[in-house]
Amino acid sequence: MSILGKTIQEQIRLLETKGIPEADRDPARLQFHLMPPTGWLNDPNGLCQSGGFYHVFFQYCPFDVNRGLTVWGHYRSRDLICWEYLGAALVPDFPGDCTSVYSGSALALENGGIWAVYTGNVKYDGDFDYIDEGRESNTISCVSADGVHFGNKRCLLSNDDYPADCTLHVRDPKVWEEDGAYYLALGARKRRDGSQKRSRKEQDRDYGAVLLYRSEDRIRWSFVKEISSRQPFGYMWECPDLFRVEDRWVLSLSPQGLTRGAFRYQNVYQSGYFLTESRTLPDSVQEEQFREWDMGFDFYAPQTFEDESGRRILIGWIGMPDSEKEYRNPTTEYGWQHALTVPRQILPGENGLRQRPVEELERLRGPMRIIEDGRETAVPGRIFDLEVDEIENRPFHMRVAGELTLQYSDGVFLVGFSGAEAGRRLGGGRTARRARIGKLSSVRVLVDTSVLEIYLNGGETVFTTRYYPEDAPVLNIACPGSRKRLWEMRSMTVKFV
Ligand code: FRU
Repeated sequence: MSILGKTIQEQIRLLETKGIPEADRDPARLQFHLMPPTGWLNDPNGLCQSGGFYHVFFQYCPFDVNRGLTVWGHYRSRDLICWEYLGAALVPDFPGDCTSVYSGSALALENGGIWAVYTGNVKYDGDFDYIDEGRESNTISCVSADGVHFGNKRCLLSNDDYPADCTLHVRDPKVWEEDGAYYLALGARKRRDGSQKRSRKEQDRDYGAVLLYRSEDRIRWSFVKEISSRQPFGYMWECPDLFRVEDRWVLSLSPQGLTRGAFRYQNVYQSGYFLTESRTLPDSVQEEQFREWDMGFDFYAPQTFEDESGRRILIGWIGMPDSEKEYRNPTTEYGWQHALTVPRQILPGENGLRQRPVEELERLRGPMRIIEDGRETAVPGRIFDLEVDEIENRPFHMRVAGELTLQYSDGVFLVGFSGAEAGRRLGGGRTARRARIGKLSSVRVLVDTSVLEIYLNGGETVFTTRYYPEDAPVLNIACPGSRKRLWEMRSMTVKFV
């Protein structure tokens, strides 16, 4: 109970009764992407399928549209199309998570139950650098027998348990089960030197790593090893995820501290995966094995899970931390910000992994229309799924809503908001993102009211971005000889339980 005599969950419900109608007045509100009911959303958390239900938890700050006290919000669905919003599942109500319930993951238990593991963030008041002093990062577990209500929290590991050369930044546990044992991977910021009181310069030399733990009973955990890169690769690795694709281990991460470039690492922070050759859990990874999940402006902190049918599905955050100086989201005027990507199935690709929007989404498609080359085409419903194939590496040029260009020539794909005031408004300050793709065979674009997810070559390269058109978008695609099919989309349903 708080001093107001209301639990945090009850306070959130109250905020939502005011916040949801306000957010729903925003014409940029999304129709087939999960969003915060009100306030701020970041990472997807606790993704799993249990007892037939898909569960999507998310980092949720209902109290502040620009981030603040964080809880886990909870969506659930049987088919990835009809969703229920079930309120805040995990809130800071325990000494080990009293500042915020940070990111984590979950495993399905029998009879629809869920075992969740997350980082309890504790920040002390005072003059601290919050790297070497002033915070706790606790690894906490919690069980829900019915998949909705969570029981007692248990602290599994805290800063004293992590290797001595870790800073206080250790977080985002990813758990999985294998051969009757449980594994837990944590993202860490590690010191190169051993001293306690460090200069800023020494802190700048920190490096990212994954800490791997194992347990037989989900309670007592022993340290197995650290996985890091042979060459320096950022100062912090957030949101690690480890899984296998066709027997090869994949290590997915959101590294911070990479040097930005023209064709790669274009955002403030990155997220991508190392596709290793290893059939056993690797000890180290190399930058040459790293591929970015998404080349757009708005993508970070993805997480994957295996569903009951054996599909590996990824969901990412459509957002980017610390990007406010570069671009913005006018949705804040209606009290909400950010969203999650559609679920994407992970498949082996030609040069890495492919991401394909789960086929359930095709049930939202209306009748198919053929688009003519070079013709202005209005899409009154604003939301659509567009597939252009048979491109055979010819130049491709597409305009969406006037100032947004998607263009392929000379092996490079560009997503750009073209200059001037209108472009700035449409892109909220976003400019251009580029990828070297070598060849182009197909383009698929999922267009929601204010989100574009662009999948090239069957999802070998993906771009996700926000955009803010004032009217229903008008398209113009120039790529003679290609086949262009468009389906207007219907909205998914979200029921507030
Ligand atoms: C990634 C991240 C995580 C952390 C969470 C806090 O976006 O910074 O490392 O657990 O967000 O909201």
